Amino acid sequence: MGRFLDESLAGILPYTPGEQPQDMQYIKLNTNESPYPPSQSVIDAISCDEVQKLRLYSDPSTKLLDQAIADYYRVDISNVISGNGSDEILAFVFKAFCGKKGMACPDVTYGFYPVFCQLFGIKYISVPLDDNFCINVDDYKDIQDNVIIANPNAQTGICLGLDEIEKLVCQNKNRLVVVDEAYVDFGAQTAVPLTQKYDNLIVVQTMSKSRQLAGARVGFAVACESLINDLKTIKFSFNPYNVNRLSTIAGAMAIKDHDYFDECCDKIKLSRKYLVDCLEKLGFLVLPSKANFVLAKHEKMSGQEVYAKLKQKGILVRHLGDERIKDFVRITVGTNEQIKQLAYTLSGILFGEKI
Ligand SMILES: Cc1ncc(COP(=O)(O)O)c(C=O)c1O
Repeated sequence: MGRFLDESLAGILPYTPGEQPQDMQYIKLNTNESPYPPSQSVIDAISCDEVQKLRLYSDPSTKLLDQAIADYYRVDISNVISGNGSDEILAFVFKAFCGKKGMACPDVTYGFYPVFCQLFGIKYISVPLDDNFCINVDDYKDIQDNVIIANPNAQTGICLGLDEIEKLVCQNKNRLVVVDEAYVDFGAQTAVPLTQKYDNLIVVQTMSKSRQLAGARVGFAVACESLINDLKTIKFSFNPYNVNRLSTIAGAMAIKDHDYFDECCDKIKLSRKYLVDCLEKLGFLVLPSKANFVLAKHEKMSGQEVYAKLKQKGILVRHLGDERIKDFVRITVGTNEQIKQLAYTLSGILFGEKI
């Protein structure tokens, strides 16, 4: 701690992003990016002309992007806010709505939630997943604080049905429920339609995973107009030009290209099945994932060791230190070619032979 840092931040444990090595080419299966490029319409729209315009500020209302999102989800533009990645949107949510109320979330989930609580001085309530790593909605019924869940859940990939989400929202209409749908497009059902019915629900999404734009940093939230207006108050009190010119265009073009989106999601769902089959053949226990990653463990080797040995061989996966999942590695669904290479390498690491 430097001598000028505010004392309230002295103990903060910042979020650790997945490795983004700049030195060598890895098969990169560690941060749940898409293995596919952005839509051709994104590439075409980022023209020389648009680059020339970078001397001008971006549109603080992000109208082009918000309208494209609103059209896609058939909601009004007043129900949408966009941000510099969904991390920024989540930060706005924590800042806006968690003063007196704390935030409750599963004990295994996206690691940024407790960090936001620490950063903004918010009471953090950790609710254990059940023994099968599932969220049990009934565990939240007596909680008066706000609730955030990722659906599918981060790290496990396990998802709740829409009926369970609705039950969570209806348990207590005086608390906010935030559903982080970073991975929803790979097989779960979105809760966006419920935002038209309930004024205590915010759905947060990202274009980093299913829309191939992790590097552009585009995220958004859909909720009733009054919640969105509160989030806009935070945005305009913090960073009014939060989505840059090129990302505004990229996000709008990506969400308009339905065919390419469907094609990439379908390919990832098929590759996920291939990945699970390969891992199970090698003796891994794999949690049932509806995301673009799987969490897997092997009785012969610790999660840390699997991670380290794969890295030595040029394949990056993620080992998350959290106590309950420390035996596992999280593997992003890549292309079938990448998965084949992973399976071949794992077989060598585990058994000294190839499958
Ligand atoms: C559950 C969850 N929410 C949000 C994010 C952040 O995504 P973004 O790239 O939009 O900031 C991630 C990133 O991995 C995530 O796993």
